[in-house]
Amino acid sequence: MSILVTGGAGFIGSHTCVELLNAGYDPIILDNLCNSKSESVKRIKEITGKDVKFYECDIRDRAGLDKIFAENKIDAVIHFAGLKAVGESCAKPLEYYDNNIGGSVILCEAMAAAGCKKIVFSSSATVYGSENISPLKEDMPEGKTTNPYGTTKLYIERILKDVCASDSEWSVCLLRYFNPIGAHKSGRIGEDPNGIPNNLVPYITQVAIGKLSHLNVNGNDYPTPDGTGVRDYIHVVDLALGHLKAVEKVLGENGCFTYNLGTGNGYSVLEVVKAFEKACDKPIKYVIAPRRPGDIATCYSDPSKAKAELGWEAVRGIDEMCEDSWRWQSQNPNGYGD
Ligand code: NAD
Ligand code: UD1
Repeated sequence: MSILVTGGAGFIGSHTCVELLNAGYDPIILDNLCNSKSESVKRIKEITGKDVKFYECDIRDRAGLDKIFAENKIDAVIHFAGLKAVGESCAKPLEYYDNNIGGSVILCEAMAAAGCKKIVFSSSATVYGSENISPLKEDMPEGKTTNPYGTTKLYIERILKDVCASDSEWSVCLLRYFNPIGAHKSGRIGEDPNGIPNNLVPYITQVAIGKLSHLNVNGNDYPTPDGTGVRDYIHVVDLALGHLKAVEKVLGENGCFTYNLGTGNGYSVLEVVKAFEKACDKPIKYVIAPRRPGDIATCYSDPSKAKAELGWEAVRGIDEMCEDSWRWQSQNPNGYGD
């Protein structure tokens, strides 16, 4: 089975390609490398010992997409490609709407023209907004998004639902990720953010290798057990394996399906710091800083629907997530390099 993986050179995409190859699928990577490096594709081949086709292409390039569909018989698409920095999306909303929403529309048009109507989409827990109370369940109403990035996820979900409702040949799986961290056990692929990381674990890893002096803990006065924000961290390999189950779902059944991919467990910022200190065997310096605008106190999933319907559940715990993040960062202090 050939699976087109948009954004396949990125953090989650590269891990998913490794698991697809290990399971005997034939992934074809499409990426414009705006937030990744072709080195990750080399390492996917190195880890699996298998070859993988790579197209440097933008999802907004309709002619480029048509060529890929003409050259390959693609059975389904996993659609990771998108811009994902919350702060940047507030500064450059049009870039986000054009790339994420415009790109998804063009991708679906190319898919329909090629007769490939099976898609797995990278959505986010951010679509629940701040109104819903954790554990978050798929049948809760969507919340109000607080930034253009989140709005793109909400709108793309709606667009894909409408596409599905318009044509019974479509099958769509909307995967709402919680907080992916960790890296492949080999230490050869992982998350390689540009500049100063926005997210907690990439920030902590850079404090641990000495690139950043200390972590700013954004708020210790939330209504949580230790006052710091609580999130549902999920190992990127568990997340990748969820995509294999989602691909099976769209290949086997038409319709629109929505699943949380999380562990169901919430950890506070200070609990993550403690787990990371254990993994890297050194103290992580931190200071208590003001709350980050737009943050919520607590966000974790109810992952039972994915377990019941996809037969998938996350099995890797917070210690393993931190050990694997640390192995990747310590073996690749400059990520994939320049
Ligand atoms: P990433 O930036 O590492 O991967 C995204 C990839 O898409 C990059 O390789 C980038 O070069 C590529 N890309 C972006 N725009 C493109 C375009 N127009 N054409 C072709 N390629 C393009 O990010 P990630 O963490 O692997 O996230 C993958 C997906 O999952 C994204 O859609 C993201 O919004 C979503 N998601 C991520 C998280 C997270 O915390 N990492 C959480 C929820 C949802
Ligand atoms: C962020 C995004 C969200 C995205 C998610 C995916 C924001 C506002 N939201 O959410 O849209 O879907 O990542 O992973 O960026 N923290 C610190 N210090 C830091 C960084 C973070 O204390 O330097 C705290 C935060 O306040 C939060 C927790 O760590 O309580 C996790 O933060 P982060 O990794 O950015 O994830 P989210 O806030 O869940």
